[in-house]
Amino acid sequence: MSSSLLDKREARIRTMFGNIAPRYDLLNHLLSLNIDRYWRWRTTRLAPPYVPAAGVAAPILDVCTGTGDLALAYDRAAQQRVPIIGADFCLPMLLPACAKTRRRRATGRIRYVEADTQRLPFPDDTFQLTTVAFGLRNVTDTDRGLAEMVRVTQPGGRVAILEFSQPRHWLFGRLYRFYFRCILPCIGQTISRSRDNAYNYLPASVLEFPEGEALAAKLRRHGLTEVHWYPLTFGIATLYVGTKPSE
Ligand SMILES: C[S@@+](CC[C@H](N)C(=O)[O-])C[C@H]1O[C@@H](n2cnc3c(N)ncnc32)[C@H](O)[C@@H]1O
Repeated sequence: MSSSLLDKREARIRTMFGNIAPRYDLLNHLLSLNIDRYWRWRTTRLAPPYVPAAGVAAPILDVCTGTGDLALAYDRAAQQRVPIIGADFCLPMLLPACAKTRRRRATGRIRYVEADTQRLPFPDDTFQLTTVAFGLRNVTDTDRGLAEMVRVTQPGGRVAILEFSQPRHWLFGRLYRFYFRCILPCIGQTISRSRDNAYNYLPASVLEFPEGEALAAKLRRHGLTEVHWYPLTFGIATLYVGTKPSE
């Protein structure tokens, strides 16, 4: 595997997503047969927002928000009663997010910020829930990104990470790996015409990223407690949820 394919320096990642941004949603839904929508919906169920009966709710932060689908899913789950910030360092990915948010008349509730997950421009202990979907794997320094996510989360609040993983069932796993390594890159590259091999990078980056107990252990090392992980759709994706301890 060429090392340039797995080059995760900020400039390369930003350019890669910038180039595929116009086709990102189409390919996401096509290549996952729309199951990605279900995974985000499950995330909002397994790591639900806290909506107080009265008063102002603490905000939710979705980092590496891309085209904003998880931020929008949380807006629905919170019955439009929780302020949400979507942060990403790739402006072309945020443009479709803003357009979708306008179409759903959610602009007053969801705000997008151009920011690097490794240097979040928010004070400590701000968010009730800090989330990321299919983004942490792309952050240059995973530990710095995680440390920032934990720092901005309120004590007692949760960090939720949705990421691809590898199915364990031997037959399904073999079929899926064939699809993920051979068919998906072919369709993805043809439709996106990515100059940076984004749809070859996708399986390569998933195969080398920690998953299951290894990622859960990393979350614990960052101080999160009550870490649970939930395989979704035979383990094609996994949701990790941890709590920042109250002081
Ligand atoms: C695969 S997309 C995921 C988008 C979205 N969360 C979703 O569920 O479809 C990964 C996103 O992470 C963003 N990203 C990668 N590294 C980042 C970083 N260090 N800071 C902020 N955003 C980053 C990319 O710009 C891209 O929009």
